Amino acid sequence: MNILLVKPGAEQFAVDECKLHGSDAVSTISGIVTTGSSGITSQKLCFPFWSINDVTEINYSGNVKIHDAVCNWFCDQIRTVRIDTPWPLFFLTKSENGFTPDLSRQERIKDLLKKRISRIAKLADWNYPKVDMPLDGLFVVDVKEYNKVYISRNAVFGGQRRMKDDPQAPSRSYLKVEEAFAIMGRSPKEGDIVADLGAAPGGWTWAALKRGATVYAIDNGPLKKGPLDHPNVLHCKTDAYTWIPSHQPVDWLFCDMVDHPFQVYERIKVWFEKKWFKNAVINFKYGYSDPVKVLELLHSSSGILRYTDSFVCRHLFHDRDEITVGVWK
Ligand SMILES: C[S@@+](CC[C@H](N)C(=O)[O-])C[C@H]1O[C@@H](n2cnc3c(N)ncnc32)[C@H](O)[C@@H]1O
Repeated sequence: MNILLVKPGAEQFAVDECKLHGSDAVSTISGIVTTGSSGITSQKLCFPFWSINDVTEINYSGNVKIHDAVCNWFCDQIRTVRIDTPWPLFFLTKSENGFTPDLSRQERIKDLLKKRISRIAKLADWNYPKVDMPLDGLFVVDVKEYNKVYISRNAVFGGQRRMKDDPQAPSRSYLKVEEAFAIMGRSPKEGDIVADLGAAPGGWTWAALKRGATVYAIDNGPLKKGPLDHPNVLHCKTDAYTWIPSHQPVDWLFCDMVDHPFQVYERIKVWFEKKWFKNAVINFKYGYSDPVKVLELLHSSSGILRYTDSFVCRHLFHDRDEITVGVWK
């Protein structure tokens, strides 16, 4: 069994998304979706932020405490394994944002392991791991069921994370594009040209400006704070559905327009077909429509993702009823 961790409320979307990719899934606990072990991992999926693969249920009782049970299991698993490099240790417990790392329990387990396998324990690490890469380590999910946790040596991290705000950024949307950059492992650089469709009040524009890019900010609405009157902004007060970049291709296309996702999709499709950009971050707001239908369209044989091998599609930590697509060269 694989455990997929999703935001509370997104379970059914994740179940339907797994089905879209041909994998059966169910959800009986808030924040958790399970699939068969041969099932899909979060590498391909939008909604899960962790996929804990091939989990084992361990039970602890009597005098054996949860942390001891976890350490016993791990020491047993790695008896014949050589570990010389940092390895991920994550103990995930339920919070208001779904299952998130519990630092004190991770420290507790590391301390216990130090007593038994000191050299290996010192290499335990809980910094953000690489995105979309199969990871070997120790992953525990505490579903708060009596005397039971799920445990595994293998997982894949989708990359979703809380970002730090910037007082110069005029909107919370800024956090979305910063999170997308973190997952993509790239962002605009000095001298890049960026087209920002639906730019106001300018959070995404600000993320590009602070990196030294020049931004065409397309929106009838006003820019605020950092982007307002910034020398590297060209504010085009016009309709983003008809605006055509004079500089082609732009280094980055941003699109965060509030509109029906299928409308936005049709416009972005033109940008793909005309090769008007190299890299992109595109946000689709699903509101009352079905986000899995948007994913189906994106992944379909005539969908825009067929134009690229390098993309991520995620329900970001900072997304609400939205999904975000990152594309790069
Ligand atoms: C969620 S806000 C964008 C927030 C922005 N990314 C930020 O970080 O501050 C959506 C914007 O889309 C703009 N918008 C909606 N339809 C548009 C259109 N057809 N052309 C240009 N802008 C549009 C709205 O005016 C609104 O400012």
